[in-house]
Parts: sequence; structure tokens; C-alpha cells
Amino acid sequence: MNAKEYMSGVFDRASGTYERVGVPFFGPVAAELVRRAAPGPGDHVLDAGCGTGASLVPAAQAVGPTGRVVGLDLAPGMVAAAAAEIDRHGLSQATVLLGDAEQAEELLPGERFDIVLAGMMLYFLPDPLAAVRSLAGLLKPGGRLAASLLVRSSPAEAELLGLVEQALRPYTSGAGSAPFQHTLGGPEEMTRLFEEGGLSGIACADVTFDVAIGAEQVWDWLWSAARRASLESIPESLRAEAREALEASLPRDGFVLERTVRYATGQL
Ligand SMILES: C[S@@+](CC[C@H](N)C(=O)[O-])C[C@H]1O[C@@H](n2cnc3c(N)ncnc32)[C@H](O)[C@@H]1O
Repeated sequence: MNAKEYMSGVFDRASGTYERVGVPFFGPVAAELVRRAAPGPGDHVLDAGCGTGASLVPAAQAVGPTGRVVGLDLAPGMVAAAAAEIDRHGLSQATVLLGDAEQAEELLPGERFDIVLAGMMLYFLPDPLAAVRSLAGLLKPGGRLAASLLVRSSPAEAELLGLVEQALRPYTSGAGSAPFQHTLGGPEEMTRLFEEGGLSGIACADVTFDVAIGAEQVWDWLWSAARRASLESIPESLRAEAREALEASLPRDGFVLERTVRYATGQL
């Protein structure tokens, strides 16, 4: 199995509970991405790595019935969840496709977009610069690429993850790690990626989100996104016990995780 198949498998299995465990994070992050990308009525938008539709839905609402929003995701479960969200919101201007964002050109031959969104996904791609170049290549002249990435977390998150690791070590085989391929650190790096990707008028900004999480929510939260990869080796028969051990090791009043997201926008 290659890295992409592994990554899409992890997100496929996460799709049933992604952002649905009472710990809002991706939703507010995506709303801010759409606010920064500022789609308007009639615009055509591509949402690369759309997940369950956190940015696709507000983008489709912003472009209205005369616009078009196409979501693309490599994980079938994410595509199914996004399609259900499109139906639930009655958004006939939106559609979602199963596929690799790096192959968007072949999947959407000749289509050009006013806005391309890449929310919380560039670090899963083997070559982020190649990805930025190919996503920028899908823009109409004057179109905008907008990306977000989690770049920093607080000591509280490091403490929480340390406690998780300690409590679950007896149950995990050590196999499986979060499927990130890159960290994409400083603002200079995002600016460089966008510049070398052929964009101009680049703006980068960091926004910090406070994510409150109770001790009893941690287990479900871990399973609901990329971090589940390190828990999947726990045998089914031991999962209830592992969960209990984890919850017993966490402070009762939970944590507030300060997570900093970097937004970058640029124009073709
Ligand atoms: C952390 S989630 C973000 C989802 C969504 N953009 C959001 O903000 O909630 C990353 C998503 O990127 C998708 N993804 C990763 N690599 C991809 C690729 N090469 N092509 C399409 N989707 C990809 C994953 O399947 C997953 O749904």
C-alpha cells in the first residue's frame, strides 16, 4: 500500500465521525477559509480535499444557484458524507467527486475556477509545491487559491497527547502513524510555495482556535481524524478497556487546546 492509499484509508474510516464528536474545529476553520477566499454569487469553486463538506457547504451557499462548487476527495467515505451534506442543505449548485486532487486537471478537463480551496490538506500530498502549481493551474486568470494548515498547537495539546500515548501504549502495537507527509512550518514556507506555484498578491495570516475537549470526549475525538492511525492497531476486543484506561488517566476538567491555523491566499 502506498502513502496515499494509506492516507485515504485512514480518512475513509474516520469519515463517519469526522467533526461529529462535539469538539468543533474543522467547521470553524473551514468557515474562516471561505471568508478569506470570499466567493461571490455565480463563482465557480473547486474544494480540493473537501472532506465532509466543511468548506464546500458555505462556499456553495455563497456562490448561490448561479454558481458551481465541485468537491474532490480521495476517501470514499468523505465523498459520501459530503454528498449527504449537499443533499441536506439542498445545494443543487454543488457536487462532489471521488478522486485525487493532484489529478484534478484530468478529472475536470478544461474546467477553470474563480476560487480553489485547499483546506487542511496540503500536508497529505507527497509534493506540496507540485500540488500548489497544479491547483493554481486550475484557476481562471485573476482567480484565487486559498489554503489552510494547522501549524502550531499549545503545550496543553502536547500534554494531552503525551497522556494518550502513555495510557494506550500497553494496547497499541506501535504500528500506524498519522499520515502527514510534511509539516509546512513558517509563513515564509507558505509564501514560497504560493510564489513558486505562480501566484501573486500573497497574504498569510495565523488564526488561533480554542478547542475545548472533555476527558470523556478524547477517545472519540482521536478516532475522528488522522490521529486514529495510531489507535487502529488496538485489537477490537481490547478497545473498551483501552478507552477506560485512557479516561482514567486524564484530568476530569479536560483541556483547552489552542490550535493555530495558517491561512494563505494568492491570485493567478
Ligand atoms: C484534514 S481533512 C480536511 C477536510 C476538509 N477540507 C476540512 O477542512 O474539513 C483532509 C482531507 O483531504 C483529503 N485528501 C488528502 N489527500 C488528498 C488528495 N490527494 N486528493 C483529494 N483529497 C485528499 C482526505 O481524504 C481528507 O478528507
